[in-house]
Amino acid sequence: MSDEAYRLTSPDGSEMELPVRKGTLGPDVIDVARLYREQRVFTYDPGFVSTGSCESDITYIDGEQGILMYRGYPVEQLAEHSSFIEVSYLLLHGELPTGAQLEAFDNTIRMHTMLNEGMLSFFKGFRYDAHPMAMLSAVVGSMSAYYHDEMDASNPEHRDIFSHRILAKLPTIAAAAYKLNIGQPFIYPRNDLNFTENLLHMLFAVPAEPYEIDPVAAEALDLLFILHADHEQNCSTSTVRMAGSSGANPYSAIAAGISALWGPAHGGANEAVLNMLEEIGDVSQIGKFVEKAKDKNDPFRLMGFGHRVYKNFDPRATIIREMCYRVLQKLDRKDTPLFDLAQELEQVALKDEYFIEKNLYPNVDFYSGIIYKALGIPTSMFTVMFALGRAVGWTAHWREMISDSKTKIARPRQLYTGPAGRDYVLVDKR
Ligand code: ACO
Repeated sequence: MSDEAYRLTSPDGSEMELPVRKGTLGPDVIDVARLYREQRVFTYDPGFVSTGSCESDITYIDGEQGILMYRGYPVEQLAEHSSFIEVSYLLLHGELPTGAQLEAFDNTIRMHTMLNEGMLSFFKGFRYDAHPMAMLSAVVGSMSAYYHDEMDASNPEHRDIFSHRILAKLPTIAAAAYKLNIGQPFIYPRNDLNFTENLLHMLFAVPAEPYEIDPVAAEALDLLFILHADHEQNCSTSTVRMAGSSGANPYSAIAAGISALWGPAHGGANEAVLNMLEEIGDVSQIGKFVEKAKDKNDPFRLMGFGHRVYKNFDPRATIIREMCYRVLQKLDRKDTPLFDLAQELEQVALKDEYFIEKNLYPNVDFYSGIIYKALGIPTSMFTVMFALGRAVGWTAHWREMISDSKTKIARPRQLYTGPAGRDYVLVDKR
């Protein structure tokens, strides 16, 4: 807390000091918690563009400089040297693990990958063509029915078990949804495989023949999971915190986060980017689509472009573009029309006055779909892949929220614009 304060003068001339709080990095915040009690006014901020909802020491973003750090470590360093499992430990526990801690954590996650057989039978109730995000949200929500009695949020051991189950079982649920979509039998997890290898095995193995895991695919997915692992108070994370703030079962809170992620303005953008690139089809059509994106009367937007926080390059997009190039080379894809198209579209947009003026740059999702597609992952599974990476971030935020003595049930107020009060009229008199 600092001694600085904003002075607020109300229309009746009374004054109030609003304390300014300083974090370790980033803009200060004005603490308005006493505002309503003392002045009888609310703040108004649709979309929370100027509102900090909590204190957090997990992730820091500087949108002007294009900086992203988990627990103080730059994402570029983690992408180069770490693994998704190590980053998960870091997010959940605040520090990088020692060798022994990492081995124990990795082992625990491997040992929690199986689903209760009863949970598998849920998949029989879904239509074969159900969207995998719908199935993921529904089945994760159903974990609250399986583990309700073992989930006392005030018990640190229960919180750990919850975290391990979310991290370990989500890939199994995601793969089961995919197998249902393509009419193949469910493939059980293998505990001898690491997190990403196991996911590839459950997605692509079939009982009829051996399946060899491609190390390039495993490396690329692991990197994508690191880059998606957390992003401070984004829409889905705030949803998890909000649902969890009522004391709801945390599995249900994670299911709510999955639903929020699905939207095309958030995690659904990776699916939308691929659909958009396929619709553009050819570099000769880029100009037409860029004009559409700039047209105020046309709802079309360049998917994978723009971000609420980044007003400069999204550092994740830069790493993913490089990875995209390496994956396509290593997989020996000489013919890379979608990647070529995406790169050309990026160049055209970056030189365009509209995109320059509005600070619209490619975001994390602009290139990720091209990698998923090259790995054989279908478009409908792209947002599911995002969820598998982000689940650990949601879990870390839920843990932080539940342990914070300042947490209250999230309950925003409003500016009421409805009728100012009227009398009920009997139906035959209307
Ligand atoms: N294409 C064309 N114009 C755009 C785009 C875009 N992709 N993104 C923003 N704009 C324009 C808006 O029309 C608006 O113009 P105006 O000021 O003339 O009205 C201005 O830029 C600001 O846009 P807002 O929607 O107000 O910005 P906001 O911060 O609310 O939205 C968002 C950010 C949702 C990401 C937006 O840029 C967007 O819709 N992008 C496309 C979808 C996408 O890629 N989403 C993924 C985000 S990253 C993630 O969640 C993983």
